[in-house]
Amino acid sequence: MRDFLKRLPKAELHLHIEGSLEPELMFALARRNGVELPYASIEEVRAAYDFQDLSSFLEVYYQGMSVLRRAEDFHDLAMDYFRRAHAEGVVHVEMHFDPQAHLARGVELEAVMEGLSLARREAERELGMSTALIMAFLRDRPADEAMKVLDSAAPYWEMLDAVGLDSAERGHPPSKFTEVFQRAKMLGIPRVAHAGEEGPAEYIREALDLLEVCRIDHGVRCLEDPALVERLRDEGVVLTVCPLSNVRLKVVERIEEHPLPLLLEAGLRLTLNSDDPAYFGGGMLDNFMACHDAFGWSKETFVQLAGTAIESAFMSDKRRLELH
Ligand code: ADE
Ligand code: ZN
Repeated sequence: MRDFLKRLPKAELHLHIEGSLEPELMFALARRNGVELPYASIEEVRAAYDFQDLSSFLEVYYQGMSVLRRAEDFHDLAMDYFRRAHAEGVVHVEMHFDPQAHLARGVELEAVMEGLSLARREAERELGMSTALIMAFLRDRPADEAMKVLDSAAPYWEMLDAVGLDSAERGHPPSKFTEVFQRAKMLGIPRVAHAGEEGPAEYIREALDLLEVCRIDHGVRCLEDPALVERLRDEGVVLTVCPLSNVRLKVVERIEEHPLPLLLEAGLRLTLNSDDPAYFGGGMLDNFMACHDAFGWSKETFVQLAGTAIESAFMSDKRRLELH
């Protein structure tokens, strides 16, 4: 099965590129940039990846990205991930990035965009991969800061496939960002949002109604609201589900208890994704394999899930035809 799942052309729609930073590269970049890390060794870094919830992960995640300072670092980060993903049969990657987390450390948007753009071109040329870029706003920061970031990204609007919403969910409903997302809509930029990961089903409704998103990132808590499940099915809204992430952040206790089979039975459009592979114990192939081991899904089910990802990806019709 592993061989089959490896060969299956996979599109990844939910990945935080900063969450793909492996400890080895973290140490190499820390050395290159003279950044001091609170860890003495790679083993110590991995030992720190024992999370109680989303917030305890985010603390380590924002700390880890402190080694990213120059365009070259963002390039190396993305290429390191693209190469690993390519080796697992991933043919298309959509990466979220968190500009506010970099601006707060004095790293300009220009450095982030330059590094990521260079890596995207290289991935296409050398690995035959397509990629997309999702600029995410941090929901635990003020909405007016997000609006300023959107405005200051004007030179790069053309390069954005979507804007997204991430970081600590509880207490930060999508409604806080209605204006920002309406502005993105006016600019012709598609929208996605994390909702229903740790937050309630109501946040999924808000993301659909107020932010007018085309996909929901996570969304697993929709099951608490049967009318919402019906709506998601009727409207064909895609959920980008991240099984290993949900286990590591204790959204579910064990993979066997993950609601994926229920979501599938409910007729929802689902995709499998890695979220923050360097922190959650595996990339796309490990997420697919974990589902196989836990749920005993058939090859047809995986073909269906991989097909949904390609159908709902931000990619040209030409590329979609190539992959389907
Ligand atoms: N940022 C990086 N990973 C995230 C996740 N799983 N949820 C919310 N924000 C994130
Ligand atoms: Zn995420």
